[in-house]
Amino acid sequence: MKQSIIRSTGRYLPERVVTNNDLAQWMDTTDEWIQQRTGIQERRWVPEEGGVGASDLGLEATKIALDRAGWTPEDLDMIIFATLSPDIFFPGSGCLLQHKLGLKDTPALDIRQQCTGFLYGMMTADAYIKSGYANKVLFVGSEVHSTGLDRSTKGRDVTVIFGDGAGAICLEGTETSEKSGLLACSVHSQGKYADALMVEAPASRLNPRLDARMMEEGRHYPSMDGRNVFKLAITRLPQVSKVVLEQAGLGIDDIDLVIPHQANLRINQAFQQSMKIDEKKMFHNIQRYGNTTAGSIPIALDEAIEMGLIGKGSNVLFAALGAGLTWGAMIYQL
Ligand code: COA
Repeated sequence: MKQSIIRSTGRYLPERVVTNNDLAQWMDTTDEWIQQRTGIQERRWVPEEGGVGASDLGLEATKIALDRAGWTPEDLDMIIFATLSPDIFFPGSGCLLQHKLGLKDTPALDIRQQCTGFLYGMMTADAYIKSGYANKVLFVGSEVHSTGLDRSTKGRDVTVIFGDGAGAICLEGTETSEKSGLLACSVHSQGKYADALMVEAPASRLNPRLDARMMEEGRHYPSMDGRNVFKLAITRLPQVSKVVLEQAGLGIDDIDLVIPHQANLRINQAFQQSMKIDEKKMFHNIQRYGNTTAGSIPIALDEAIEMGLIGKGSNVLFAALGAGLTWGAMIYQL
């Protein structure tokens, strides 16, 4: 049977490090508050002068992943690009990346599933591969949050948690009788929670889509009901992870590494306790990067492989929850 195999991964984080103390220059916050509530110590931001979009970070991560796979851009049958911070309102960043890779007419598909973008994107890639439509697929998760955050005290609950970054994965369809690739996946959405975490403008339902008054009110910045999102995360992540373990016929001890979306260290610690996961099997890098949304899991996967924590044959459990509300889990055998 055809399985989608991860051939390689890559990541790119902008060089500019923004510490909690840097943020405290612009807003009423402290390093202690941020670390205690989220675990975050620093994050990466694109250069202040602008000119760097999600497709640019994605391009750098892609170059590394392609190089490691021994592929050229022309080898790709399809690009799947997950982001909530596209370079421009439309067209999608996947098309922009396709052009930056020098490709003629390779199809590109954008995924708008926020922090769950990796799960939806990998599931989509797997389906395209298994259907026979595409055999070599590039998945990219990339975000530039920093240019869209409220740096005043009004936006402090949201601004301190987000960072910029991108991860890329080369997937290839391979005929094999062995158990490998995507073993189980379960994703969900619940639009009734859309306003728990959203950016309201610019929006097609507003006319004009954005004006000076809306900007004064800060409606172009993300707004979040942090407590609600926290509660939803600590209940839904274990629930959906148990579902995929059952689907795959595996117990938590069969999992070599758990890579949760990096939204908040406390959320992931609560998830770990609830699932009784050995601390050594939990991957965290939120301390250094903050929440990079669609970039978060692919960046973490790339780091975990580079650190030698996982390799061929490892079972990895991924779990994520984010705006939408969207959430899900996936078990992948590398
Ligand atoms: N620095 C200092 N104080 C801050 C602050 C900051 N950056 N942000 C908020 N506060 C203040 C609040 O104004 C509030 O003050 P008050 O008690 O005087 O009203 C106080 O801290 C507590 O705020 P609260 O929102 O209850 O804090 P919290 O413990 O819920 O932590 C989050 C806030 C955002 C860290 C937390 O809710 C969270 O991480 N939620 C999940 C968010 C998430 O994962 N989002 C992404 C999903 S993909």
